[in-house]
Amino acid sequence: MTVIEALPARVTIYEVGPRDGLQNEQGIVPVGAKAEFIRRLLAAGLPVVEATSFVHPRWVPQLADAAELMSMLIEGAPGEAGKELPVLVPNERGLDRALELGCRHIAIFGSATETFAQRNLNRSLDEQFAMFEPTVVRARDAGLDVRAYVSMCFGDPWEGDVPIDQVVEVGKRLHDLGASQLSLGDTIGVGTAGHVRELLTALNDAGLPNEALAVHFHDTYGQALANAFAALQHGITTFDASAGGLGGCPYAESATGNLATEDLVWMLRGLGIATGVDLAALVRTSSWMAGVLGRPSPSRVVAALSPAQ
Ligand code: HMG
Ligand code: MG
Repeated sequence: MTVIEALPARVTIYEVGPRDGLQNEQGIVPVGAKAEFIRRLLAAGLPVVEATSFVHPRWVPQLADAAELMSMLIEGAPGEAGKELPVLVPNERGLDRALELGCRHIAIFGSATETFAQRNLNRSLDEQFAMFEPTVVRARDAGLDVRAYVSMCFGDPWEGDVPIDQVVEVGKRLHDLGASQLSLGDTIGVGTAGHVRELLTALNDAGLPNEALAVHFHDTYGQALANAFAALQHGITTFDASAGGLGGCPYAESATGNLATEDLVWMLRGLGIATGVDLAALVRTSSWMAGVLGRPSPSRVVAALSPAQ
């Protein structure tokens, strides 16, 4: 069997543009434009769109309108609308705010390194678990889906290389708290394909099957698509991506945009792998958002398919 024949027939794209993308913008996008962005992404066939964060508004002012945004999106929407619109929640205070608005899917976000835990969460590596534990327990008791990010899986701007064993240990602890999916963040985009395979194999060996794993690549060094292909060959079927390649993290030096959803869809389409995404509608959405932000999208596929931008 060739490698290509061994690829999955379908994958899930977990869209992070409205959260990971817009959290890093200099300016603040009006809440109405955020709601339209999210509705258009859902309409383009993306099954899950991470909408915003219930973090401290002083830490991420770009997403301080989270409550207003979620009430615009969830109120009056049919049934389990909150399931397809996950929100970042670091602690019980964030969970209370999310529950109040009918959110049904949260993502906690842990760090594989001490320095980033301090800078992003104001906690030590160990203390972060004490903050997450009651949050996850309560979220699960309330019937919410819980995803857990692990940041700095492939390198850290302050600590340099991050040992694979350290990532595996943090990942296992977050998974054991009760998260159903672990998303492996290459926060600063330094990972390469061989490293991806090595980390995924180590996580499998530690008892985490591919079905419990997702990959979250930033494209700082232009490796995100190659890394996604390596993960696909390994058997991963959930891929985080950001419409138009928006993204970054305000608390991680040198983090740039995420893997662009359009670039991922283009590759998957060429491989005959179904995503359910309407590429033309997605490109129109990212071109429109580039207009809102006042600068062209960094996605190569958006640039190629919308030459007028
Ligand atoms: P802290 O200052 O240690 O919080 O921040 P605290 O628990 O000491 O509480 C201090 C005050 O904040 C209290 O208010 C709390 O109520 C309030 P006071 O009693 O003084 O009036 N507070 C909150 N208010 C609103 N919402 C909340 C909340 N929590 C406490 N949730 C905290 C700790 C975690 C809150 C802070 O560090 C924080 O908000 N960090 C968020 C950083 C962030 O969002 N970073 C970007 C996302 S991560 C990322 O992008 C990486 C990812 O994409 C994956 C990858 O690429 O690797 C996911
Ligand atoms: Mg990210």
